Amino acid sequence: MSSADGGYEVVAAEHLPAKVGQKVEVRGWLYNRRSSGKLHFLEVRDGTSIVQAVAYGPDLEKTHPGLFEKLGALPQESSLIIRGAVKASPKQALGVEIGLEAAEIVAVAEPYPITKKEHSPEFLLERRHLWIRSKMQHATLRIRARIIKAIRDFFDERGFLCVDSPIFTPSACEGTTDLFEVDYLEDTKAYLSQSGQLYAEASAMAFGKVYCFGPTFRAEKSKTRRHLREFWMVEPEMAYATLDDVMVLMEELIVFIVAAVLKDRRPELAVLERDVKKLEAIQRPFPRLHYSDAVELLKKKGLPFEWGGDFGAPDEATISGEYDRPVLVHRFPAAIKAFYAKRDPQDDRLALGCDCLAPEGYGEIIGGGERATDIAFLEKMIAEHKLPKEAFEWYLDLRRYGSVPHAGFGLGVERTTAWICGTHHVRECIPYPRMLYRIVP
Ligand code: 4AD
Ligand code: MG
Repeated sequence: MSSADGGYEVVAAEHLPAKVGQKVEVRGWLYNRRSSGKLHFLEVRDGTSIVQAVAYGPDLEKTHPGLFEKLGALPQESSLIIRGAVKASPKQALGVEIGLEAAEIVAVAEPYPITKKEHSPEFLLERRHLWIRSKMQHATLRIRARIIKAIRDFFDERGFLCVDSPIFTPSACEGTTDLFEVDYLEDTKAYLSQSGQLYAEASAMAFGKVYCFGPTFRAEKSKTRRHLREFWMVEPEMAYATLDDVMVLMEELIVFIVAAVLKDRRPELAVLERDVKKLEAIQRPFPRLHYSDAVELLKKKGLPFEWGGDFGAPDEATISGEYDRPVLVHRFPAAIKAFYAKRDPQDDRLALGCDCLAPEGYGEIIGGGERATDIAFLEKMIAEHKLPKEAFEWYLDLRRYGSVPHAGFGLGVERTTAWICGTHHVRECIPYPRMLYRIVP
């Protein structure tokens, strides 16, 4: 179905503004309808945008008897193909509308469950497969897709090779508490990957600068606005790199992503009523804060925080509330970080790691840092973290055969999307969220 009848060109609704004066065909679904006497105003969505088609009864009756009446009774989400001429219409979000000349009704829909009235989140999540047709969800997921493309472009343009890590793994990466276990062979368990990092380290020793990008899995027991059980993460890893190098890379990546969304997804940001001025402020350099200074800040603000602890959501919101752009908090206590973190040579209690906290209370969107290079140290850490040493022998090989300083990070796609869209909950930032108590649809 690529060319249409009678000189109507098939056009995606988002491209209609460039087609004023031309005859087009749009294939989609009825989003909404208003009628007034001899006119129907049909809002037709085709997946790329929504266009208003204006049907004038007396004209349509001459060419297609009965069609005007059928359109007037067509339920929401019925599928239809419309044909007509594109006209400028400044009042429309698209800036154009279609003067309807013909239409084909493809399938008449049953009464659609999602209506204009307020629905509960549970009701909508239960119907996620339909909910994604709604304006706000649609805008969010189009922005998400643009963020993913920006991430790939960013790394591909900078000489990083995409080397993906496996999803079935024999061992933990980030800790053993939130692993999903699966039967791999009769007598062999496997775990769904929590992070592709350990493999990305091996890939970096083979290819220099790499990234892996895929879904990761955590059996999170908490039901918060920031936790999914399946989420997407991009993880760059660089040989011969330090904490400072990855902090610069974090800044560059975020600035690049935000600029791409501002360039190509303005209409979607408008649907979401996102304050774009806040996004336009996202420029380098980002403020940098030593963990100990962050602790001082929290104490000054009256929060009951003790040095050594990990930040909770209110702590992160308080810290990021001080700035108009993301903040890089570095050198956390090693005790609260993963086994592979390199220690700060200036202070052995600290890890050479960095978290990036998004503005406006969205919290941590990136975690990363420099990796330990010394095999004896890593063996000690693996034992302290009660990890099975055999499962990490391959990882220790990376220190046996040409160990070099290296560093990387992981950026969570859904948390980044939530921040950029101004969406309260990450569950709306992935097409089909997987959460505690939700695996359907
Ligand atoms: O800070 P995390 O746990 O870091 C790692 O996994 C490192 N191995 C990454 C690396 O250095 N290669 O997770 C990284 C990011 C977080 O900052 C957050 O954006 C996201 O992954 N994330 C989650 N997003 C949604 N739901 C969850 N349950 C998440 N857990 C982490
Ligand atoms: Mg983290």
